[in-house]
Amino acid sequence: MNIAVFISGRGSNLHAIIKQQKKQNYQVKCVISNNRQAAGLALLDSNIGKYCINWVKPDIAEKRTLELMQKHKVELIVLAGFMRLLSADFLHQLKRPVINIHPSLLPEFPGLNTHKRAIQAKKKQHGASVHLVNQNIDDGQVISQSVVTVLESDTLQTLANKVLKKEHKLLPHTIGLIARKNLVIKNNKVFFDGTLLKKTIIV
Ligand code: GRF
Repeated sequence: MNIAVFISGRGSNLHAIIKQQKKQNYQVKCVISNNRQAAGLALLDSNIGKYCINWVKPDIAEKRTLELMQKHKVELIVLAGFMRLLSADFLHQLKRPVINIHPSLLPEFPGLNTHKRAIQAKKKQHGASVHLVNQNIDDGQVISQSVVTVLESDTLQTLANKVLKKEHKLLPHTIGLIARKNLVIKNNKVFFDGTLLKKTIIV
């Protein structure tokens, strides 16, 4: 399965996705960043298309993105730290499933500063979620999650590290399930082994 990964920054999930592509039966065909300075753009193999697209004029950015999805025969789009909302109209035009990784156990803590908010709320459990993308922030159906225990001794940094480590397994694993068609996404609905997915997959 051919995939595109959209990033805006560090790109540690992108590199985890690339590392596990053979094992998980997918190929990263192209990477799109809305930020020229994104660290994740460094050290990419030359067989992966690398594109910086300025999203200041969304209609131009969307047109270029659509062309690239066609060119690379992309079947799944993965947002991994991509800091732009995609409009409902653009998602419709993409005609491919779009998934995102978010550092919380959705529906808890959509948006920013999730680790800080989990600590402030004295959560015993925290984690990461992979979900379908819609036009709202971190709002589409949750597909899979990984859970970490929040210890009294955890700081913002130790908690962030624990969650990120989980993300690096959760996202490639979930893409692998889609690549092998255990998970099928159709008309914005998720099917797991032939039946409608009602429970989140815990990885
Ligand atoms: C990750 O925590 C991801 O869950 C969130 O943005 C962060 C991206 O990190 N959406 P990286 O760029 O993959 O290192």
